[in-house]
Amino acid sequence: MSYYKIKNLEEYFKHYKKSIREPRKFWGKIAEENFIWYQGWDKVVDFNMGEADVKWFVNAKVNITKNCIDRHLAKRGDKTAIIFEPNNPNEGALHISYNELYDRVAKMANVLREQGVKKGDRVCIYLPMIPELAIAVLACARIGAIHSVVFAGFSASAVTSRINDCECKMVITSDGGFRGNKSIDLKGIIDEALEKCPSVEKVLVANRTNTDVNMKEGRDQWLQPLLDAAIPNNVAEIMDAEDPLFILYTSGSTGKPKGMLHTTAGYMVQTAYSFKNIFNYEENDVFWCTADIGWITGHSYILYGPLLNGATTVIFEGVPSYPDFGRFWEVIDKHKVSQFYTAPTAIRSLAKESDEWVDKYDLSSLKVIGSVGEPINEEAWHWYNDHVGKKKCPVVDTWWQTETGSIMISPVPFVTPTKPTYATLPLPGIQPVLMDEKRNEIEGNQVVGSLCIKFPWPSMARTIWGDHERYKETYFSAFPGKYFTGDGALRDEVGYYRITGRVDDVVIVSGHNLGTAPIEDAINEHPAVAESAIVGFPHDIKGNALYGFIILKETGEYRDRDNLTREINEHVSSHIGPIAKLDKIQFVSGLPKTRSGKIMRRILRKIAEGDFSNFGDTSTLLNPEIVDEIKDNKI
Ligand code: PRX
Repeated sequence: MSYYKIKNLEEYFKHYKKSIREPRKFWGKIAEENFIWYQGWDKVVDFNMGEADVKWFVNAKVNITKNCIDRHLAKRGDKTAIIFEPNNPNEGALHISYNELYDRVAKMANVLREQGVKKGDRVCIYLPMIPELAIAVLACARIGAIHSVVFAGFSASAVTSRINDCECKMVITSDGGFRGNKSIDLKGIIDEALEKCPSVEKVLVANRTNTDVNMKEGRDQWLQPLLDAAIPNNVAEIMDAEDPLFILYTSGSTGKPKGMLHTTAGYMVQTAYSFKNIFNYEENDVFWCTADIGWITGHSYILYGPLLNGATTVIFEGVPSYPDFGRFWEVIDKHKVSQFYTAPTAIRSLAKESDEWVDKYDLSSLKVIGSVGEPINEEAWHWYNDHVGKKKCPVVDTWWQTETGSIMISPVPFVTPTKPTYATLPLPGIQPVLMDEKRNEIEGNQVVGSLCIKFPWPSMARTIWGDHERYKETYFSAFPGKYFTGDGALRDEVGYYRITGRVDDVVIVSGHNLGTAPIEDAINEHPAVAESAIVGFPHDIKGNALYGFIILKETGEYRDRDNLTREINEHVSSHIGPIAKLDKIQFVSGLPKTRSGKIMRRILRKIAEGDFSNFGDTSTLLNPEIVDEIKDNKI
């Protein structure tokens, strides 16, 4: 029997049981039957959770791009691999077949090699959502270079720290990018970022906006002429199963961003498997995930998952509101999209517009609709189900993380009965557990706890680049022997999971995972600021927004608070990016601190939420009187 596709609920339980009792047989069979390998493995998995040491498909040899592209050519050479839908609908979509994708990736891979990029080198990709982004990612994987895609909304200093952390040798960028009615000067941002990046030797620049940019002699080259001169044939690098595939940065609750390292074979097997099942993918479906390739969702479900299955995947350059609020629905109608995968924040912002925008288009091609990135509230779930899915398309509320590499808990459409706001059941192979404060596993149903995973899964991150201790400490120390997700969850009477939100100092704003510590660090650098504390509070569209409590230095300057508020936000934008802007800033004379000097964020969170009912135990506070002052001046 094959485990690659779950056909009904009975089969789900059967596969699930098998995957828990005999994980090696389960994943081994999936890996063997659905991919091409240069050489098989000695062992399916080898691990020591205490040391955060995990290996899958030990000693196997493979190249993920052979599986994404080459093996499809005989059967699907002329099939569309990528549909590029540009920001401006009048520009017209582009269809890239698997044959063309092969040629373009091969040329790009040859260019990278000619420019001195070798297996194991890090390449930073800072591009808008254009085909070159997909091609650059795949070309890196082709030659064994480690791609580090940095979302093209990050500021120069955020790019600098990400490039320096993993010492990228090359940057691939473009002159600019289009987003709605704006044009963004990406090359200018890279120029600024690279002033402090000694490791970068070369910059390749794609032409997207036809704008004049500064080209630094000896460092910068236009990409297209190099591609034009390259040959469309490339021998893929033979990669070990555990060779790094990519680094992707995610915010932490403390300090600098964490470069999550994903390796080759396990990531390949599980992204492909999860894509097939969670989206009920069948040949000739058109799959559209609206995320940016700069996030894990884009890595796994715009590129690798779909291409591994020989699917047609849409790359959308624009935004949901341009040229009008019908854009998503127009694109679904135009390309006859079968599976649509987006974020609750996008759903909420479109649900607040007139239903005419969505009713105007024919969405009958849709089969499955998905949600990711944050908890989806009941109202948004129903609007999505009623107006987009027309009550015929299962809503897959998919829970996972940058660290997990692929979807972990989600309904399997047409198999698992859905329940609004519930991610429902774990995929086969995934063993979630809820833990109590005493670090005990909570048995039974109708319980709440900290969500952990107790057995390794193939697509899990292997480490934080350059800092394995931090990886161990962040994910494997709170509950020894288990991976701690940082999320809280409840398990209902039938065993369905509902994610309740972060239990650490990470706030999810519009689906973007923001650590409060780096934002505080940025704010504290402002000359007027002595100290700050950031917390999240509920927001109708964004899910959460940021509330800053700020203590000013007593210099007497900066009397104009509106001006200062604006300046602080500009500071945050330039250090991290516009996504990290604060919605509310309250200037305070002190912050509630424990005797050991820790800010009691729990109280600030309650104040920001406007819930003054019960602040819990404040007896350990050094300065309890400050709580009233902050509360009374709440914005
Ligand atoms: O808190 C959870 C939330 O997003 C976090 C992971 O963020 P990131 O690494 O940026 O990856 C986002 C895309 C996979 C999780 O720890 N989250 C993600 N999906 C859901 C979710 N919360 C509730 N329901 C979801 N479906």
